[in-house]
Amino acid sequence: MSEPRIIVVTGAARGIGLATLACFARDGDTVVAIDQDGPALDRAVAEVRAAGGSIAGRVADIGKPDDIRDLFAQLAREHGRLDVLVNNAGIVAAAPALETSLADWQRVLAINLTGTFLCCQEAGRLMGVQGRGSIVNVSSHSAIRGSHRRAAYAASKGGVEALTRVLAVELAERGIRVNAVAPGPIETPQVATGHSPARRQAWLDAVPLARYGTVDEVAATIRFLASEAAAYITGQVIRIDGGFTAAGLQSPV
Ligand SMILES: NC(=O)c1ccc[n+]([C@@H]2O[C@H](COP(=O)([O-])OP(=O)(O)OC[C@H]3O[C@@H](n4cnc5c(N)ncnc54)[C@H](O)[C@@H]3O)[C@@H](O)[C@H]2O)c1
Repeated sequence: MSEPRIIVVTGAARGIGLATLACFARDGDTVVAIDQDGPALDRAVAEVRAAGGSIAGRVADIGKPDDIRDLFAQLAREHGRLDVLVNNAGIVAAAPALETSLADWQRVLAINLTGTFLCCQEAGRLMGVQGRGSIVNVSSHSAIRGSHRRAAYAASKGGVEALTRVLAVELAERGIRVNAVAPGPIETPQVATGHSPARRQAWLDAVPLARYGTVDEVAATIRFLASEAAAYITGQVIRIDGGFTAAGLQSPV
């Protein structure tokens, strides 16, 4: 039997990150869950462990470069290798562009874009020693569609997609693939309570498949991109959005 892979997932205490973690753990991989929310992380680790998964949790703020440096130094010491990194941690600052404070802009960019970049740098160095590895970044439909109150968030996710392509090219010679997934509306616990009936209906009207996606559907795509089945795929963004970003006028008449 081959050695279990070492998989790191950031923002793993809930939502898409937790589903991704559980998905890799079910495959028999060793998963390392990163989150800034210690109590929620403890619950996630306990849940995955109770299901038989091999898992460790590490509290870290992906918006803090020192946390990222310490995290990867510890990973190198404890595991000596890294097979897959999923850069999932992300936040939204929902405000009109003209009312977005500099502090909110910088916090969103620091976590979603700079944090992703620094984690990719650290992972690229570790994976480069092995001559193989896979990085999956989590983008959003907002990277390529302009929605209200998403200036900082959209800018950060657009940056993530551009970064994905550059890293795919630069890290290819080290045997590292870099891809991204871009979810549309996904039914996480936060979304379930946070989306008003009017917002929910606006989404159902705009998505050709007329439903929200599930966290398991996103996790399955991340799992695929990290697998050998995707060995010839790098620099790509897979959109998991029920057709939202593909759609034009949605009327047959
Ligand atoms: N849910 C959606 O509809 C949707 C749509 C498009 C893109 N996305 C993207 O998917 C990813 C996950 O989204 P989600 O809906 O599951 O989010 P969520 O808010 O439910 O969970 C995010 C997790 O990340 C953690 N986190 C936030 N900031 C962090 C930081 N600085 N350091 C470490 N951990 C941090 C949170 O504590 C939380 O556990 C994000 O990058 C998000 O932008 C989500």
